[in-house]
Amino acid sequence: MNIAVFASHNGSDLQALIDGCKDGKIKGKVCAVISNNPDAYALERAKNENIDNYCINTNLYPGKDEADEIILKILDSHSIDIIFLAGYLKKIGTLVLKKYEDRIFNIHPALLPKYGGKGMYGMNVHKAVIEAKEKFSGVTIHRVNEEYDDGDIIAQTYVDVLETDTPESLADRILEREHTFLVEIVNDITCGKIKI
Ligand code: GRF
Repeated sequence: MNIAVFASHNGSDLQALIDGCKDGKIKGKVCAVISNNPDAYALERAKNENIDNYCINTNLYPGKDEADEIILKILDSHSIDIIFLAGYLKKIGTLVLKKYEDRIFNIHPALLPKYGGKGMYGMNVHKAVIEAKEKFSGVTIHRVNEEYDDGDIIAQTYVDVLETDTPESLADRILEREHTFLVEIVNDITCGKIKI
């Protein structure tokens, strides 16, 4: 399967996917990386791996579907089968959502439906989990729709919240778990165990 990854920042999840494909743990290939942020380290990672990479700053396209049309052309040119959002902070436009219905996935660093939605990204998520004195947090992989963190949940894994945890220490432990979980679940998608 041909995979496109959308990422706005560091791209460690992207790296896990690239490595998973290279090691044969995922039956697929990361063919394109798209970011909205020209400074995203995710773009550097793609360059280092000779993966076609694109910076599409959606704010620069005032027309309703303009950015979407560009993104769709890129996806078509790589015959993309599935899209994975790995720390992508923009909403997906309606044209892309329609064409790739049920084939766009996102990873979220908490147990949705709690701790998701607008503003729930980065350290905000882990701060909220610790403030609520949760005993567990985790990772959710879900399909993407027009709302933030709202589509069908396809897989979750738990991570303990320790009494000594700070938002930062919890974030580190969850991110580490993401890297293995992501590979496992994307492989299930590419093998057909999870239907698209
Ligand atoms: C991850 O925590 C992921 O769950 C969230 O964004 C973060 C991306 O991290 N959606 P990185 O940029 O891949 O290191």
